[in-house]
Amino acid sequence: MGRLSAIVLGSAAGGGYPQWNCRCGVCQLAWEGEPRVKPRTQTSVAVSGDGAHWVLLNASPDLRAQIIATPALHPVGATRSSPISDVILTGGEIDQIAGLLSLRERQSFSLHATSETLSILDDNPVFRVLDSELVERRRVRIDEPFGLSGGLTATLFPVPGKVPLFLEQGEPEIGAEGEATVGVEIESDAPSGRLVFVPGAAAVTPDLRRRLARADVVLFDGTLFKDDEMICAGTGAKTGRRMGHIPIEGSAGSMAALKDVSARRIYIHINNTNPILVDGSPECATVKAAGWEIAEDGLELVL
Ligand code: MLT
Ligand code: MN
Ligand code: ZN
Repeated sequence: MGRLSAIVLGSAAGGGYPQWNCRCGVCQLAWEGEPRVKPRTQTSVAVSGDGAHWVLLNASPDLRAQIIATPALHPVGATRSSPISDVILTGGEIDQIAGLLSLRERQSFSLHATSETLSILDDNPVFRVLDSELVERRRVRIDEPFGLSGGLTATLFPVPGKVPLFLEQGEPEIGAEGEATVGVEIESDAPSGRLVFVPGAAAVTPDLRRRLARADVVLFDGTLFKDDEMICAGTGAKTGRRMGHIPIEGSAGSMAALKDVSARRIYIHINNTNPILVDGSPECATVKAAGWEIAEDGLELVL
């Protein structure tokens, strides 16, 4: 087995950056081609333990373009083939599952998710396009490690969250820890490496902080800098917390909650309103001064 490698395929939140219908201040910079900002696709990460088998952490709506932009994921060998051996889902939001529809060309891989997330796929007939003879849906229990092709081990763990946006009926319970929103811990053992991916978290619990503290690399929910950022930007009526995303700043934000975590800490799933997307902005400087990195598409990590 080799080292644990990861490639950030996409680093933006749902909608991507810029978002197709958005002229908020930060999107407008991207539309104008301003060099201080880089466009980003919707969040997905590929990990590998041997450089030959790759595991996708979520399947974003931008997956096809992400594969084309990533040589490690190009087909090799047989006429029909793919290095993508497994897909792990951390929830059933559209930006986590829609890319499955781009993997429909009769290719075998294993799909791992909680029973709650798998039931979203089971309930939606469009996902039957992934032939069950080829794509095995594996029900993963919380906190039970499972093996992946290429020698990695993964564990899904609960994260405070909520049901996917498209399943909300009235006011959803926010911050529930169950199977709807999970994080994933990826481990290799020789040499040892541990990466934790949490693209959505409504809060940081003591358990979550402990889990992040023992990782080498943390990819964490950087959706909004300020809880009321989308309201202030005129792009929506909801706070970050209402969307199941803890803000970065403030005494109850992720920067404060994770300040003592010694892992390499990287914000991912960054919403297009978030000023950390602008190189040299005060918010970008603030997160960097606190030891955080800001994920970009194509970022490669070797643990
Ligand atoms: C989220 O992370 O809150 C969702 O991806 C929202 C969405 O689907 O737009
Ligand atoms: Mn999302
Ligand atoms: Zn925008």
